[in-house]
Amino acid sequence: MRIVKSLVLALVALTSNGALASAVSAAERAWVFDDAPSYPGVTMIQVSGDRGTVSGSITTGWYGAIAMQDARWSGNVLSFDTRNLNDAARPTRHWTAKIDGHGVMLEGGIWHADVKQNGRPATVTEVAARTFRPAPDLPPMGSIAPDNLAATPPMGWSSWNKFAEHIDDRTIRAMADAMVASGLGKAGYRYVNIDDGWQGKRDSAGILQPNAKFPDMKALADYVHGKGLKLGLYTSPGPKTCAGYEGSYGHVEQDARTFARWGVDYVKYDLCSGEWFYADADSVKRTYHQMGVALKATGRPMIYSLCEYGRFAVSSWGRQVGGHLWRTTGDITDDYTSMSDIGFVRNPKFAPSGPGGWNDPDMLEVGNGGMSDDEYRTHMTLWAMQAAPLIMGHDLRRTTPAAMAVLTNANVLAVDQDTRGIHGQRVRREGDVEIWRKPLVGGAVALAVFNRGSQTTKVTTTAADAGLPRLDRVETSGQAHLWDQTPSFRSRLTV
Ligand code: GLA
Repeated sequence: MRIVKSLVLALVALTSNGALASAVSAAERAWVFDDAPSYPGVTMIQVSGDRGTVSGSITTGWYGAIAMQDARWSGNVLSFDTRNLNDAARPTRHWTAKIDGHGVMLEGGIWHADVKQNGRPATVTEVAARTFRPAPDLPPMGSIAPDNLAATPPMGWSSWNKFAEHIDDRTIRAMADAMVASGLGKAGYRYVNIDDGWQGKRDSAGILQPNAKFPDMKALADYVHGKGLKLGLYTSPGPKTCAGYEGSYGHVEQDARTFARWGVDYVKYDLCSGEWFYADADSVKRTYHQMGVALKATGRPMIYSLCEYGRFAVSSWGRQVGGHLWRTTGDITDDYTSMSDIGFVRNPKFAPSGPGGWNDPDMLEVGNGGMSDDEYRTHMTLWAMQAAPLIMGHDLRRTTPAAMAVLTNANVLAVDQDTRGIHGQRVRREGDVEIWRKPLVGGAVALAVFNRGSQTTKVTTTAADAGLPRLDRVETSGQAHLWDQTPSFRSRLTV
């Protein structure tokens, strides 16, 4: 009789607090989401404790288990905050989880995404399957000995700018064919880099497999090598790459060995979702060092391309972690505003790089059609003057004659590939005109003249611009159409 009475009392308490209050106040509850949008990919919410001391997490594909901060109940709604990223104005985001008899309605956000998902109560097996396993702690920082793999800035092609993730084995083979047939290979371009979008899932031993569009990565590498070229691949220190594919989180050494086994010659390591786990200078350096060590340990020479968008003054430690090039900026797009901002403003801010390790202002857009021929000449000139890696980003089967002329201009390539490897700098600015200088081997100096205005203008350069006591000989690159005829000069050069 007593027992029945207490049950009745409990039910009364439930109704006054919201339908399923007793369920959510149980020691631990979890709900899963069957259709998670790919970013950030919330797959589960877990809540524990009672109403007074509630805590919990949301599990995401991109960032693993994200702890709730300041969680509190109000009726049947759980409110909490989470750490946010890439948004200095909003270091945290607010979330709510409305619980009812059927499940949960979760609303919140992270970075650029607003999340609104309906979930259902989870079984124990589902919780186990979705529980995120953190990677072991990062090894301590160390210093990787220099090698001779990138004595001059790497030259090649990458799939991203033109094809994004719409790539497959056939397209990559076609690019290797076109690289050779067009003469671009002969001009010095060697690396054929597969960027994001080649990855499939891991097998039961954790070995990363390519997706169905790349049936045999080793065979593809053999094909590319057979053309006298080198193959590049892309991955991330995070669980997800920037396009949402499987990253190397928790599998760094294993993936490095897989790449070596396939015959990969170049690895781009893109921070992406890793920025959640490695958010300060120390952890970013150590995560890049970890892959640097792993690549070296394979014994296969591989160019190591760091892509963390120039964070934490990467040019000061890129070499130490084994990097041969490191991105200095976010992504380039095929327009003058993006290219000129990177080339004139952002990349020059980085400490000079040089033989062995290069500042990387991102891949070329020459040939993609979003800029005029003049603008593409400016793009190529800026990159060459700053000794940037020259990684083409267009469809090599459709290189226009104008793009070909820009990409294979032997004098401009010689400036980029000069073995002193000096990162050229602006030496003079007058109105819209800029003069840049890059000292070369043998005492020669490359000068670049840029007119950033829309009006034709007359520019006079002097030996002083070149940092020389006098000019003995002047050669022109043929890069700028203003320079189609060799300028005459005595002590001053007028173009
Ligand atoms: C980031 C990189 C790009 C490209 C994409 C692929 O945005 O900066 O260069 O690799 O990821 O998803």
